[in-house]
Amino acid sequence: MKIAILPGDGVGKEVTREAVKVLKAVVGKNTAMELTEAPIGGAGVEAAGDPLPAATLEIARKADAILFGAAGVPGDEKLPYAMRPGASLLRLRKDLGLFANFRPVFMFPELIGASTLKPEIVEGLDIIILRELTGDLYFGEPRGIRTLASGERQGFNTMVYSESEVERIAHVAFRTARTRRRRVCSVDKANVLETMQLWREVVTRVGKDYPDVELTHVFVDAAAMMLMRAPKQFDVMVTGNVFGDILSDCAAMLTGSIGMLPSASLAEGSKGLYEPVHGSAPDIAGKNIANPMAAILSMAMMLHYSFDRPELAARVHRAVAATLSEGYRTPDIFQPGMQRVGTVEMGDAVVATLARLAA
Ligand code: IPM
Ligand code: MG
Repeated sequence: MKIAILPGDGVGKEVTREAVKVLKAVVGKNTAMELTEAPIGGAGVEAAGDPLPAATLEIARKADAILFGAAGVPGDEKLPYAMRPGASLLRLRKDLGLFANFRPVFMFPELIGASTLKPEIVEGLDIIILRELTGDLYFGEPRGIRTLASGERQGFNTMVYSESEVERIAHVAFRTARTRRRRVCSVDKANVLETMQLWREVVTRVGKDYPDVELTHVFVDAAAMMLMRAPKQFDVMVTGNVFGDILSDCAAMLTGSIGMLPSASLAEGSKGLYEPVHGSAPDIAGKNIANPMAAILSMAMMLHYSFDRPELAARVHRAVAATLSEGYRTPDIFQPGMQRVGTVEMGDAVVATLARLAA
C-alpha cells in the first residue's frame, strides 16, 4: 500500500494524524505500507512557494492512494487564483483525473439527535451524492475578469460538459446504484442551461443500458428542497461539479455534522484521493476540537476502493459506530450526558475500540 499523506492546512493536519493512527492500527504489521507525507495548500506555499509543489504532485502521482486533509487559509480568496490553497486541490483532481467524487451521507443512529431535522426524517438515511469533479464551471474556459470598454469590470466563467464526461460519470452512478437500492436521481438545470439539457439527454441514454435501475431527473433547486423535506427518497444522486459542491454540503448537514462525512474521489482504475468533506476550518484549528471521524471514515473508503479491503473498511466503520455508542463526542456532535473529548482522544478511542472488537 503506497499512500501519499497530504494533511494540508488548519484542522486538516489534526484530523489526518488521527486517520493515519487508525490506519496503522487496522492494517497491522502483516501488510507492507509506505506512507509519504508532503505539504499542500497553504503549507505548500510556506514550504515551496506553491500550493501544489512539484515534489508533492510527484508523490501523489506515484501513490496508489492519497489521504488528503484540507486546503485553505484565512483570506486566501484575496490571493491570485493559482496561489490559493483551494486551487491545489483542483489541480490535483484535474491532473490525476479524479472525476468521480463519492460523498456518502449516512446516519449513525447514535447521532440522530445531532441533526437539525426531525428524527423521523433522517433516521436510517443512506444516500450517495456522486459529484462529477473535473469539469463544469470549475474548469471551463474562457474564464476571468475583464475590463469592458466602459471601464466596468466583468467576471465570466464557462459551464461546459462534453458527452464523454457525462457518460462516464453516469456509468459510475448506475453501477453504484446496482450495489445498493437501484435508484439514480440525476440533478440538473435542463430548463435553463443547454449544458444541462445535454447532461439530461446523455444520462437518459446511458440509463437504457441499466434497465434494472430506476432513473429520475430533478432540477437542482427542487433537489435542494427535496433533500430537506424527504431525503430518504434518494439512493444515488448524480450531478455536475457545481451543483454537487452545493448539494453535498446541504446533504451533509442532514446528519448533524459535516465533521462526520468522508469522501472519495476516484480516477479510472483504483487510484483515489480520500478527504473529509469539511474544510480547513481555521477558526477551530490548533485547538484539538475538530472531529476526526470524517478523516477516519475517508481512510476506510480508501481501504475499500483503492486497496480492495472491504473487510478492513467495515472494521473501521464498526469501531467508529461503537466509539459513538460509548458516548465519546467532539464538540460539533456533543449532546448533554455524553463525554466531551478532543481530536486526539477521539482518535485514541477509535484505536482502542478497534483492538477491543478484534479481541
Ligand atoms: C469541496 C470544496 C472545494 C470545492 C474547494 C475547497 C475548492 O468546497 O471539495 O467541496 O469547491 O470543490
Ligand atoms: Mg464544497
